[in-house]
Amino acid sequence: MDIAVTIKEVRKQVSEWRKKGLSVGLVPTMGYLHEGHKSLITRAVAENDKVVVSVFVNPMQFGPSEDLESYPRDMDRDAAVCEDAGAALVFHPEPSEMYHSGFSSYVDMDTLTGGLCGKSRPVHFRGVCTVVAKLFNIVVPDRAYFGQKDAQQLAVIRHMADDLSYGIEIVGCPIIREKDGLAKSSRNTYLNDTERKAALILNKSLSEGRKLINAGENSADKVKELVTGIINTEPLAKIDYVEVVSWDLLEPVKEINGPVLVAVAVFIGKTRLIDNFTV
Ligand code: PAF
Repeated sequence: MDIAVTIKEVRKQVSEWRKKGLSVGLVPTMGYLHEGHKSLITRAVAENDKVVVSVFVNPMQFGPSEDLESYPRDMDRDAAVCEDAGAALVFHPEPSEMYHSGFSSYVDMDTLTGGLCGKSRPVHFRGVCTVVAKLFNIVVPDRAYFGQKDAQQLAVIRHMADDLSYGIEIVGCPIIREKDGLAKSSRNTYLNDTERKAALILNKSLSEGRKLINAGENSADKVKELVTGIINTEPLAKIDYVEVVSWDLLEPVKEINGPVLVAVAVFIGKTRLIDNFTV
């Protein structure tokens, strides 16, 4: 497995693969890889001849008061995870390689990005779309892999790939959880022992919400009420949002009579965690 730090190196490698008629999968990540990322790489390896994993903590998707500086990083470990999972190339650029001085072109979206995480993170999806568009242009993969834990991100990227005619298959992969149900996230490393226990309230509340829907409840307000009430029993939890939205347009629904996303964002102490399910 090779590690490339420049766009030129990636293009050279991918063009050699293409000359041999090989298919290419891309797994975009911000590093500090866990089992969730590994499952994306493993799936990509199974479905493509060659897999590129990008490891880039993208400054553009962090707001001014967010955790860009403290975001966990461990490139040696990440490289080992990628190699172990069968990736062929890791792209690990410096911010200056991705955003030269004077960079001023962005990919923005009028729909899908205003609610859920976009409400409290107003610059986030512009940063995500811009960096993912750049990665698509650099690697030109056949398929790109994203986790369902970031359900809004997955929907936004699907929409962007379609709007901008990338011709890349966007593959959404299931949420990977710890044994006790906590969704795997690089940000879980911020939690101390007490917060780690408190964080279980996300999955617990969503599981109850899912049970309620499966039992036939179709009022979105009732589901939100139940999930909110359960999260509020945890003193360390502060809700950012609890939403029930349509799965295609991510618009709030009143009645659950088609595919919906039930999503939460909750601060546990200072750490903002997200989780969701779709029905
Ligand atoms: O999900 C992430 O880790 C990031 O948002 C992504 C897609 C790699 C873009 O920086």
